[in-house]
Amino acid sequence: LSVKKELEKILTTAPSHEFEHTKKDLDGFRKLFHRFLQEKGPSVDWGKIQRPPEDSIQPYEKIKARGLPDNISSVLNKLVVVKLNGGLGTSMGCKGPKSLIGVRNENTFLDLTVQQIEHLNKTYNTDVPLVLMNSFNTDEDTKKILQKYNHCRVKIYTFNQSRYPRINKESLLPVAKDVSYSGENTEAWYPPGHGDIYASFYNSGLLDTLIGEGKEYIFVSNIDNLGATVDLYILNHLMNPPNGKPCEFVMEVTNKTRADVKGGTLTQYEGKLRLVEIAQVPKAHVDEFKSVSKFKIFNTNNLWISLEAVKRLQEQNAIDMEIIVNPKTLDGGLNVIQLETAVGAAIKSFENSLGINVPRSRFLPVKTTSDLLLVMSNLYSLNAGSLTMSEKREFPTVPLVKLGSSFTKVQDYLRRFESIPDMLELDHLTVSGDVTFGKNVSLKGTVIIIANHGDRIDIPPGAVLENKIVSGNLRI
Ligand code: UTP
Repeated sequence: LSVKKELEKILTTAPSHEFEHTKKDLDGFRKLFHRFLQEKGPSVDWGKIQRPPEDSIQPYEKIKARGLPDNISSVLNKLVVVKLNGGLGTSMGCKGPKSLIGVRNENTFLDLTVQQIEHLNKTYNTDVPLVLMNSFNTDEDTKKILQKYNHCRVKIYTFNQSRYPRINKESLLPVAKDVSYSGENTEAWYPPGHGDIYASFYNSGLLDTLIGEGKEYIFVSNIDNLGATVDLYILNHLMNPPNGKPCEFVMEVTNKTRADVKGGTLTQYEGKLRLVEIAQVPKAHVDEFKSVSKFKIFNTNNLWISLEAVKRLQEQNAIDMEIIVNPKTLDGGLNVIQLETAVGAAIKSFENSLGINVPRSRFLPVKTTSDLLLVMSNLYSLNAGSLTMSEKREFPTVPLVKLGSSFTKVQDYLRRFESIPDMLELDHLTVSGDVTFGKNVSLKGTVIIIANHGDRIDIPPGAVLENKIVSGNLRI
């Protein structure tokens, strides 16, 4: 009850032009918070988790083997590309939206996305729009940049996800005292995860507009996944289902390696496909969950979803997503929690959901500067906004790269490489401490470079390091 009162108080501070959407946000929050208070114990019962049946996760090759129809342009015209653009670049030391970080030849994530879709529209003479789901953290900066694409052949829409109040961990009351989110209140609000897409897309009115224009499916993905390009075979599979039964939700999954412990996996649960995240797994079963042999695949967060189905389920209030409780400590030391949901968790609410096991190349996320080094290097070539592994690489896997903390921020990372080394024959790179790389360095096999505290290592221009460990002090 006291939360309700606090929220009402906050709402009274909203200026009239912000009143309606603040009310919607706070109502949404109240429902989520209510569920959080009611739910006790783990959200999944481990005993009920089963391996998904054979035909519920199909190999991509099988989907591709069906080929493409002549009318692929008209199929494409029913598609909308949605990028999740609520996140900031803080984990790579950047201010502002993550999508505006330069990733390849000065192109940002957003530039590459626009180039990909423009290429598609020009090639097939189509009109596939791009929709960005912004958050209050990214909306203003993103909108300023969008003018840059005015002359591109891609119509760009944006809508804002909700803004929810962070909750004091002890008192369970909102930290915010009023609706502002600057000054004292900067840390009092948060975007509640990408599961918010269903409600906020619907509430924005854009969902209806797009349905009115004849659009049928959205392809949703993280803006930082450079492998998430429009796949015509998957799209065709959705638009022309082989058994005539329309599939409302496709989750692209890919094979786990031992390095992939984080992503959720698809399971069969009470007769439906369900995404299970590691946070939902009881402690005693975490190792079993992580094992590559029992749960072979994980969610790439590339999702294909029927617009009509989103509308129907949203209107029935029938989209059910587990609550993720995310604890945080604010700058001043206050412990808070934020309640979030994930877009893929809704798979169980849709009819005829399907997993498609796609090649690893469709999952190319850039989360750290180590990932950035790979996508900036000659391991990849760039073609109309899409990155593909260079044909000159002899093995199909990418090297394992670990850059130390002096490389965490993009600015520091860029300063430390005069040019990006040749990595075509690299298997493994570990760099730690105060290390710089001169121009045209070549790295091959396993290379480990460690500058201990107080030391500095400058790799000279033109150096070729092959199966080498470099340590000590090496200044040039
Ligand atoms: P993150 O980078 O935060 O998540 O967001 P993650 O660690 O990859 O894990 P998953 O995807 O949740 O499994 C992924 C994408 O979702 C957007 C981010 O901008 C990024 O593109 N996002 C995240 C939102 O748009 N809103 C949110 O509230 C959270």
